[in-house]
This record gives sequence, C-alpha cells and structure tokens, in this order.
Amino acid sequence: MENHSQNGTEALLKVSTLNCIDLSNPDIHQSVSLLKQACLDCGFFCVINHGISQEFMDEVFAQSKNLFHLPLNEKMKLLRNEKHRGYTPVLDELLDPDNQVHVGDYKEGYYIGVEVPEDDPDAEKPFYGPNVWPEDGVVPGWRQTMEKFHHEALEVAKAVARVIALALDLEVDFFDKPEMLGKPIATLRLLHYEGQVSDPSKGIYGAGAHSDYGLITLLATDDVMGLQICRDKDAKPQIWEYVAPIKGAFIVNLGDMLERWSNCIFKSTLHRVLGNGQERYSIAYFVEPSHDCLVECLPTCKSEDNPPKFPPIRCATYLSQRYKDTHAELSVYNNHQT
Ligand code: OGA
Ligand code: NI
Repeated sequence: MENHSQNGTEALLKVSTLNCIDLSNPDIHQSVSLLKQACLDCGFFCVINHGISQEFMDEVFAQSKNLFHLPLNEKMKLLRNEKHRGYTPVLDELLDPDNQVHVGDYKEGYYIGVEVPEDDPDAEKPFYGPNVWPEDGVVPGWRQTMEKFHHEALEVAKAVARVIALALDLEVDFFDKPEMLGKPIATLRLLHYEGQVSDPSKGIYGAGAHSDYGLITLLATDDVMGLQICRDKDAKPQIWEYVAPIKGAFIVNLGDMLERWSNCIFKSTLHRVLGNGQERYSIAYFVEPSHDCLVECLPTCKSEDNPPKFPPIRCATYLSQRYKDTHAELSVYNNHQT
C-alpha cells in the first residue's frame, strides 16, 4: 500500500485492490458471491477472461490514439451532436461543479453509440441515431475497429449483467429482456487525458468526482495510474483510493440506475481521475437499458419495511437530465472556426 499526503482537505491516499470476476469460471456461484461482496462493499470490481483478446484491445487503444492525434480543427469537424455522438473537447464536461472551479474536465473524448440509421423511426428518440464517423481515409479502419469493439463489449456487459441478476436474486436473464439490454443505450467513450497535473486544492481534475448514470460501466485503461474511488460519499473528509490499472481486465462499476433499481442495496460509487502529468488513455463503455425502459424498484429489493426510495423513471428521461447537467451547451461552439 502506498500513501501520499495531500493538501489539508484530503486524508491519506491509498491503492485498493478490487475483487476479480473470471467470466470463464464455470463455478457461477463463486462469481456471484465475489461480485455481490464487491457490489455491497465498494461498487467496483474487475472482470477478466471476458473474451476480448488482448491483441484487439491494443488495436482499440492504438486507434483511439490515432483519432486524438488529429489536429484540433479535424477533431472539431467531428464535434458531438445533440444525440451525444462524436468528439468532446477538453473542458466540455463539468462533472463536479461544487469542487471544480470555473473550468471543466481536462480530458477530451469521443462518444460512439449504437448505430441507428437516420430513416429508422427510432432515430427520433434522443439517444438513438447515426454516429459521427471520421471521413474515409482520415483514420483508416477506425469505424470497423470501433464497431467491433462496441459489439464485443456489449456481450461482456450482458455476461456481467447475468451475474448481477443472480446476485440480486433475480432470474439470470432478467437484464437480457428486449426493453432492458435487448435494445440498449450503450455508449463507447474513448478518453484522452492530456497530461495536465490535477490539483484538488485548486479544483483541477482529469475527471471531476461523479458516479456513472446507467446500469454498469466497463472501463479499460492504459497503465497510467489516475482513477480514484471514494467508498463513502458522505464521509468528511472524503477518502480517495487509487485503483491500480489492470492489464487486459475491465474495471466495472455500478451506475446510478442500478442504485435506483436495487433500492440502494447496490450503490453507485463516486470516482474521479487525477492527472499526474503523464498522458493517459482510457476506454469507457456505458451500459444503459432501452430508451423506454421503466427503471423501478426490483421486486427482490423492497419489502413492507423497506419501501422503494425512488419513484419509477423512464431511462431516457433520466439520462437526458444527467447529460444536460454535466455537459456544455452545444451553442458555445458556434463560433469555432473549423
Ligand atoms: C468516466 C470515467 C474513468 C477513467 O468516463 O465516467 O469515470 O479512467 N472514466 O477515464
Ligand atoms: Ni465514470
């Protein structure tokens, strides 16, 4: 364990180890119990033997670098649209307005959702639609790599969701239903932290403290340390622990929708990214149910003594609000010369 002293408002920092779920383990009960323990304990675990080859993961990281290495004016041609697809520049996102002073996150990103063609009636819904892709030849092979990763990551997410279902005493295929992960709002987000040194005392972060919005997030990182979690968001001062990068594994965390679904039995966990001056790349895959899915207290998570803590809410309604709260208005980019 490694301790660094920080400024007065933060206590000691340590590195925590996460429970590891081996998706190839035939002993499902063992996986369920490890996952359940992790979900009750810190809302973070890692997943290994998930079926995506190391070679392919390396390719996705290499292609992510190729995109972020483009000149800014090329990237601004791919600026995210109102469906949250495409490029997000540095400082576009402000995750933690209470602690981030007048600036946003020191990271750039690229959102890729499930591809829904413009002429599909579903494309009218806020989170479905066509993606923004670089023009042919700008980054050769880029779209194919990202579409393949999107597809494979969804399979990993479904496998994890089955273990979560069992851990919540639900049918194993609870989250596989059409209105759940049958037609998900699943978003791949490439991230690039440019090497800014974070300084919590000045409100400067790679990514400000937040919890993710959906069911679960799969995160792949390079080997640069930066991700921190806070087990108890109400503790004062908050205690932040680093999560060490784990080659080839996905770090998985629970999102706010699962917290609502499970009536807070499984909590979403606050996390953030601190820059240490090194460039850092990560790949997040946010998994949310279908647009119209009603997120309401699970039958196994309520009782007479423990009634639902949240009213039911439509997935898209919830997500729209969360994105609006954390991203800049698109109109701020109107004057950008491309
Ligand atoms: C996120 C996130 C962590 C990271 O994008 O929601 O928490 O390591 N990313 O980039
Ligand atoms: Ni996050």
